[in-house]
Amino acid sequence: MFDTMTVTKAAGAIIGALLFLMLATWAASGLYHVGPEGHGGEGEEHAQAYTIPVEEAPAAGGEAEEQIDFAALMAQADPAAGEKDFGKCRACHKLDGSDGVGPHLNGIVGRDVASVAGFAYSSAMTEHAAEAPQWTPEALQEFLANPKADVPGTKMTFAGLKDPQDRADLISYLQSQQ
Ligand code: HEC
Repeated sequence: MFDTMTVTKAAGAIIGALLFLMLATWAASGLYHVGPEGHGGEGEEHAQAYTIPVEEAPAAGGEAEEQIDFAALMAQADPAAGEKDFGKCRACHKLDGSDGVGPHLNGIVGRDVASVAGFAYSSAMTEHAAEAPQWTPEALQEFLANPKADVPGTKMTFAGLKDPQDRADLISYLQSQQ
Protein backbone atom coordinates (compact mmCIF):
# COMPACT_ATOMS: atom_id res chain seq x y z
CA MET A 1 0.00 0.00 0.00
CA PHE A 2 2.65 2.55 1.04
CA ASP A 3 5.40 1.91 -1.42
CA THR A 4 8.67 3.71 -1.03
CA MET A 5 7.83 6.09 -3.84
CA THR A 6 4.62 7.38 -2.18
CA VAL A 7 6.39 7.91 1.16
CA THR A 8 9.25 9.70 -0.54
CA LYS A 9 6.84 11.95 -2.49
CA ALA A 10 4.83 12.79 0.67
CA ALA A 11 7.97 13.52 2.66
CA GLY A 12 9.33 15.56 -0.21
CA ALA A 13 6.13 17.62 -0.36
CA ILE A 14 6.23 18.33 3.38
CA ILE A 15 9.90 19.22 3.39
CA GLY A 16 9.35 21.34 0.30
CA ALA A 17 6.54 23.24 2.02
CA LEU A 18 8.61 23.78 5.17
CA LEU A 19 11.55 24.94 3.09
CA PHE A 20 9.29 27.37 1.25
CA LEU A 21 7.98 28.76 4.56
CA MET A 22 11.50 29.14 5.91
CA LEU A 23 12.62 30.91 2.76
CA ALA A 24 9.55 33.14 2.80
CA THR A 25 10.15 34.08 6.45
CA TRP A 26 13.81 34.70 5.78
CA ALA A 27 13.02 36.81 2.73
CA ALA A 28 10.41 38.80 4.63
CA SER A 29 12.72 39.52 7.55
CA GLY A 30 15.46 40.38 5.06
CA LEU A 31 13.17 42.91 3.36
CA TYR A 32 12.10 44.27 6.71
CA HIS A 33 15.69 45.02 7.67
CA VAL A 34 16.62 46.53 4.31
CA GLY A 35 14.58 49.70 4.98
CA PRO A 36 16.35 51.08 8.06
CA GLU A 37 19.81 49.78 7.08
CA GLY A 38 19.96 50.12 3.31
CA HIS A 39 17.70 53.12 2.71
CA GLY A 40 17.98 55.75 5.36
CA GLY A 41 15.11 57.65 3.74
CA GLU A 42 12.67 54.80 4.09
CA GLY A 43 13.80 54.28 7.65
CA GLU A 44 13.02 57.91 8.39
CA GLU A 45 9.62 57.58 6.81
CA HIS A 46 8.91 54.79 9.23
CA ALA A 47 10.07 57.00 12.06
CA GLN A 48 7.72 59.77 10.90
CA ALA A 49 4.80 57.38 10.83
CA TYR A 50 5.41 56.86 14.51
CA THR A 51 5.29 60.59 15.28
CA ILE A 52 1.55 60.67 14.54
CA PRO A 53 0.53 59.16 17.88
CA VAL A 54 3.11 61.44 19.52
CA GLU A 55 1.24 64.45 18.10
CA GLU A 56 -1.85 63.32 19.92
CA ALA A 57 0.06 63.37 23.19
CA PRO A 58 -0.54 67.12 23.81
CA ALA A 59 -4.28 66.48 23.50
CA ALA A 60 -4.01 63.90 26.24
CA GLY A 61 -1.92 66.43 28.16
CA GLY A 62 -4.73 68.95 27.64
CA GLU A 63 -7.12 66.61 29.35
CA ALA A 64 -4.69 66.24 32.21
CA GLU A 65 -4.58 70.04 32.46
CA GLU A 66 -8.28 70.03 33.28
CA GLN A 67 -7.30 68.55 36.62
CA ILE A 68 -5.34 71.71 37.40
CA ASP A 69 -6.77 73.92 40.11
CA PHE A 70 -7.44 76.97 37.95
CA ALA A 71 -8.71 79.08 40.84
CA ALA A 72 -5.31 78.64 42.50
CA LEU A 73 -3.54 79.72 39.28
CA MET A 74 -5.82 82.78 39.07
CA ALA A 75 -4.99 83.65 42.68
CA GLN A 76 -1.28 83.84 41.85
CA ALA A 77 -1.76 85.29 38.33
CA ASP A 78 0.44 88.16 37.16
CA PRO A 79 -1.49 90.70 35.03
CA ALA A 80 1.79 92.29 33.82
CA ALA A 81 2.83 88.94 32.34
CA GLY A 82 -0.70 88.67 30.95
CA GLU A 83 -0.29 92.00 29.16
CA LYS A 84 2.71 90.50 27.33
CA ASP A 85 0.71 87.37 26.48
CA PHE A 86 -1.98 89.64 25.04
CA GLY A 87 0.57 90.47 22.31
CA LYS A 88 -0.56 87.19 20.73
CA CYS A 89 -4.14 88.47 20.52
CA ARG A 90 -3.48 92.09 19.54
CA ALA A 91 -3.38 91.43 15.79
CA CYS A 92 -7.08 90.57 15.91
CA HIS A 93 -8.48 91.99 19.16
CA LYS A 94 -8.54 95.53 20.50
CA LEU A 95 -9.26 96.78 24.01
CA ASP A 96 -10.79 100.16 23.15
CA GLY A 97 -14.30 99.02 22.34
CA SER A 98 -13.71 98.79 18.58
CA ASP A 99 -13.68 95.54 16.67
CA GLY A 100 -11.04 94.19 14.30
CA VAL A 101 -10.72 90.69 12.89
CA GLY A 102 -12.14 89.63 16.25
CA PRO A 103 -14.52 91.46 18.61
CA HIS A 104 -13.14 93.94 21.19
CA LEU A 105 -12.00 92.23 24.39
CA ASN A 106 -12.28 94.99 26.95
CA GLY A 107 -14.92 93.80 29.40
CA ILE A 108 -14.68 90.23 28.07
CA VAL A 109 -14.42 88.59 31.50
CA GLY A 110 -18.03 88.02 32.55
CA ARG A 111 -19.40 89.18 29.17
CA ASP A 112 -22.05 87.13 27.37
CA VAL A 113 -20.63 84.89 24.64
CA ALA A 114 -21.06 86.26 21.10
CA SER A 115 -22.77 89.41 22.39
CA VAL A 116 -20.95 92.25 20.60
CA ALA A 117 -23.60 93.93 18.45
CA GLY A 118 -22.54 94.32 14.83
CA PHE A 119 -19.75 91.72 14.99
CA ALA A 120 -20.25 88.85 12.54
CA TYR A 121 -19.68 85.81 14.75
CA SER A 122 -19.47 82.34 13.25
CA SER A 123 -22.53 80.15 13.77
CA ALA A 124 -20.22 77.91 15.85
CA MET A 125 -19.72 80.77 18.31
CA THR A 126 -23.39 81.79 18.48
CA GLU A 127 -24.32 78.14 19.05
CA HIS A 128 -21.64 77.91 21.77
CA ALA A 129 -23.45 80.75 23.56
CA ALA A 130 -26.43 78.42 24.02
CA GLU A 131 -24.38 75.83 25.97
CA ALA A 132 -21.98 78.20 27.78
CA PRO A 133 -23.59 81.64 27.88
CA GLN A 134 -20.86 83.58 29.72
CA TRP A 135 -17.10 84.14 29.46
CA THR A 136 -16.29 83.27 33.05
CA PRO A 137 -12.54 82.92 33.82
CA GLU A 138 -13.06 79.14 33.70
CA ALA A 139 -14.82 79.28 30.31
CA LEU A 140 -12.10 81.59 28.95
CA GLN A 141 -9.26 79.37 30.11
CA GLU A 142 -10.85 76.35 28.43
CA PHE A 143 -11.42 78.26 25.19
CA LEU A 144 -7.92 79.78 25.15
CA ALA A 145 -6.24 76.41 25.78
CA ASN A 146 -7.48 75.20 22.40
CA PRO A 147 -10.11 77.41 20.70
CA LYS A 148 -10.89 74.95 17.89
CA ALA A 149 -11.44 72.09 20.35
CA ASP A 150 -13.63 74.14 22.71
CA VAL A 151 -15.70 75.76 19.93
CA PRO A 152 -15.40 73.49 16.88
CA GLY A 153 -15.83 75.60 13.75
CA THR A 154 -14.87 78.93 15.36
CA LYS A 155 -13.33 81.39 12.93
CA MET A 156 -10.77 82.43 15.54
CA THR A 157 -7.53 81.18 14.02
CA PHE A 158 -5.40 80.75 17.11
CA ALA A 159 -3.60 77.59 18.17
CA GLY A 160 -4.08 78.16 21.88
CA LEU A 161 -2.04 78.97 24.98
CA LYS A 162 -0.69 75.67 26.28
CA ASP A 163 0.58 76.85 29.66
CA PRO A 164 -2.29 77.15 32.18
CA GLN A 165 -0.39 79.85 34.10
CA ASP A 166 -0.12 81.94 30.89
CA ARG A 167 -3.89 81.64 30.51
CA ALA A 168 -4.46 82.70 34.12
CA ASP A 169 -2.07 85.69 33.69
CA LEU A 170 -3.83 86.77 30.50
CA ILE A 171 -7.32 86.44 32.01
CA SER A 172 -6.30 88.48 35.05
CA TYR A 173 -4.98 91.17 32.66
CA LEU A 174 -8.25 91.11 30.70
CA GLN A 175 -10.16 91.42 33.97
CA SER A 176 -8.38 94.75 34.49
CA GLN A 177 -9.47 95.97 31.02
CA GLN A 178 -13.07 97.13 31.34
C1 HEC B 1 -6.08 85.54 13.99
C2 HEC B 1 -7.00 86.38 14.70
C3 HEC B 1 -7.23 86.10 16.17
C4 HEC B 1 -6.31 85.93 17.18
C5 HEC B 1 -4.79 85.92 17.06
C6 HEC B 1 -7.05 85.78 18.40
N1 HEC B 1 -8.41 85.86 18.14
FE1 HEC B 1 -9.92 85.72 19.49
N2 HEC B 1 -11.28 85.83 18.01
C7 HEC B 1 -11.00 86.00 16.67
C8 HEC B 1 -12.23 85.91 15.91
C9 HEC B 1 -12.35 86.03 14.40
C10 HEC B 1 -13.26 85.69 16.85
C11 HEC B 1 -14.72 85.43 16.55
C12 HEC B 1 -14.84 83.90 16.55
C13 HEC B 1 -16.14 83.33 16.01
O1 HEC B 1 -17.09 84.07 15.77
O2 HEC B 1 -16.15 82.10 15.83
C14 HEC B 1 -12.62 85.66 18.16
C15 HEC B 1 -13.32 85.47 19.35
C16 HEC B 1 -12.76 85.52 20.60
C17 HEC B 1 -13.49 85.46 21.84
C18 HEC B 1 -15.00 85.36 21.99
C19 HEC B 1 -15.51 86.78 22.02
C20 HEC B 1 -17.02 86.95 22.21
O3 HEC B 1 -17.45 88.11 22.10
O4 HEC B 1 -17.73 85.97 22.45
C21 HEC B 1 -12.56 85.55 22.85
C22 HEC B 1 -12.83 85.52 24.33
C23 HEC B 1 -11.27 85.67 22.23
N3 HEC B 1 -11.41 85.64 20.86
C24 HEC B 1 -10.08 85.80 22.91
C25 HEC B 1 -8.82 85.82 22.32
C26 HEC B 1 -7.58 85.91 23.06
C27 HEC B 1 -7.49 86.11 24.57
C28 HEC B 1 -6.58 85.84 22.15
C29 HEC B 1 -5.07 85.81 22.41
C30 HEC B 1 -4.58 84.79 23.29
C31 HEC B 1 -7.18 85.72 20.84
N4 HEC B 1 -8.55 85.72 20.99
C32 HEC B 1 -6.48 85.63 19.64
C33 HEC B 1 -9.76 86.19 16.12
C34 HEC B 1 -8.55 86.04 16.79
